[in-house]
Parts: sequence; C-alpha cells; structure tokens
Amino acid sequence: MKILAIDTSCDETSAAVVDGRRVISNVIYSQVLMHGKWGGVVPSIAKRAHADKIDFVINSALKKAAINIEDVDAIAVTYGPGLAIALEVGIATAKELAQKYSKRLIAVNHMEGHIYSNFVQNTACNPKREFNFPYLALLISGAHTEIVLFEDHLKYTVLGETRDDAAGEAFDKGARMLGFNYPGGPAIERLAAEVHNEDRYKFPRPMLRSGDLDFSFSGLKTSFLYFLKQMDEKDKVENLNYLASSFQEAIIDSLIAKMKLAMKRTGLNRWVVGGGVSVNNRLRHVVRTMAKQENAEVYFPPYKYLNFDNAAMIGVAAAYKAEKGEYVKDMSVLDRIPRLSL
Ligand code: KG4
Ligand code: ZN
Repeated sequence: MKILAIDTSCDETSAAVVDGRRVISNVIYSQVLMHGKWGGVVPSIAKRAHADKIDFVINSALKKAAINIEDVDAIAVTYGPGLAIALEVGIATAKELAQKYSKRLIAVNHMEGHIYSNFVQNTACNPKREFNFPYLALLISGAHTEIVLFEDHLKYTVLGETRDDAAGEAFDKGARMLGFNYPGGPAIERLAAEVHNEDRYKFPRPMLRSGDLDFSFSGLKTSFLYFLKQMDEKDKVENLNYLASSFQEAIIDSLIAKMKLAMKRTGLNRWVVGGGVSVNNRLRHVVRTMAKQENAEVYFPPYKYLNFDNAAMIGVAAAYKAEKGEYVKDMSVLDRIPRLSL
C-alpha cells in the first residue's frame, strides 16, 4: 500500500512516499535559515515558505519514488500539533489532491509520527526492528517534551509532559543567551564536546523530586540567564563551552531522571526516543549508558533525518492507521488542531 504523506507542522515542508514501513522517497525543504536570526520559528514566514514550496516538494517526492499520484493508494497529512497557519497549508493541499484524484485521506498526529520514526525502514527493509509492545516513548522536540506509554499500534497514553518549555526550546533559548542562532541544539552540543561535556557550573536540575513524570525547563533557563548576567563579558566569552556543556548536562540529567522514574512506575524497560533533540550525541551516550545499567533497551531514530520533522514518519504512522481502516470520514470537517495531544 503506497501512501503520499505531507507534513507542514513547523519549519520544514516535507513530502514522502512510503510503502508500509518502507520509505520510497522523502523530500524536505527546510526553512531553518529563514528563522535563524529571529531565535525561533516565525509563523507568518513559515506559512509563506510552506505555500511557496509545497507543490515542488510533493512533485519531487513523487518523482523520486517514480510514481504518479494516480497510483498512490492514499494521502496522509499532519493535522496537529503545530503552528496553525503552517498546518493549514499541508491540510489544504492534501484535501485538494484527495478530491482531485479521488484518494482516501489519513490524518496523522505529528507526535505519533515522531514515535513511528523509530520503525521507519529504507527500501531494503532496514533496520528490521520488530514491534515488541509495550514501549515507553521519550519525545523531545522543539515544542514538546513528553513520556508516553506506547501500548500497541496507535494506542498511546501520555504519562508526563513539560509544564513550560520543551527540551528543544530550552536548547534554543540557552543558545540564544550565548549568542547563537536558532536552532540552538547543534551549537550547544558542539561547544560542550570541546570540553568533553564537563559539568563545571552545576545548574539546577528542575523537577527532579517532583514525584511525577512531568518536566520543567523554565527554572533552568532563568538561573542560566542570571548566572550569565553576573559574569563579566570576557569571562563569559572564554567559558562559552563550559557554559554550554553545563547547561546541556542539566537538561539531559532531567530527562534521564524521569526516564528512570517512568521505568520504576510502569515496570517497562523498552524505549523509543524521537524528536529533534534525540539526534544529540551526548544525550544518546548518556541514555545508552543508563539503559545498560538499568537493563533497558533503547531505540533512536535509525537515520539522521528521522530525528527531525519529516513526512516519512507521518507516512509510516499512516500505514498503520490505514491497516486499521482509520481514514478521514468527512474531508470537509478535517481541520488543523494546533494543540492536538496523543
Ligand atoms: O523535532 P524537531 O525537528 O521539530 C519540532 O517538531 O519541534 O525539533 C527541533 C528541535 C529544536 O529545538 C533544536 O534546537 C533541537 O530540536 N535540536 C537539537 C539538536 N539538533 C536539533 N537539540 C539538541 N542537540 C542537537 N544536536
Ligand atoms: Zn517534530
């Protein structure tokens, strides 16, 4: 079953053709350079860029897959969560195509895409990764941080989430305070690696003793800001790498603490991790080390692009929806849901 999938939830315009779990083609047009100097994604700029590029991105995905749109079996689209006016571009295009070519439509939650990113395969069916439910999922993106019980295909329960900033957002804001453009994660990771991830300043680990599986990163952000304010400029510039490193360690520590608590609470020890922050090598190392100690098993998205926003993961989640007959019944009522939860 071949699905054309579309994602325009944030700052990437993406289209993919998948066949079950296999990705035949995936095209991403990233707007990241357009938003860089603003410190985050500007919705109006995102919407315009999506509208400009969507047809080109879809046509490229079809062409790369060597398939005509007439021959796809269904069209999948992200309907939330995300930026309302950005989501709208993908949804309107998907509806138009579905109508024009008489295709069924599948509406996908962007976060379920990030979960399924772990099970996306290339055309040679790699990696194999059989499903072995239930899993715990750690979703760490620019706008979301949550721990989810992934019980079975399409069955999710959110066990904990951030009360304020997302982990990716914390990376972005911390990086901005150090003078780096959006997205901040790569800059922080690179600086931290220069000093072998030393935790020199020991910033607070928020919510460690809250007793639940929720996160909070705004307190860390504030203490980072005050710490920088009392430093003199020369000292700050000379210690950018230690600052970045200590900041990153605080974020990772908070994530690890809640992962451990989630395992204790649920008795489960199989994880999937997804979202932009999951590409971070220091995070991967610390999570894998913890997993070894705790006898846990952890999957990360198997190819680099799968950590970030992409339509391939949306298509693969859609394939499981199609299997269960979960098509959009009435296209006219399909609407964006910017705060859609799992
Ligand atoms: O999943 P994603 O591409 O978009 C959303 O759905 O939000 O995640 C983007 C986030 C940004 O906040 C970015 O700073 C973060 O992922 N990120 C990283 C790294 N690369 C991107 N965070 C930490 N380390 C990285 N290397
Ligand atoms: Zn995302």
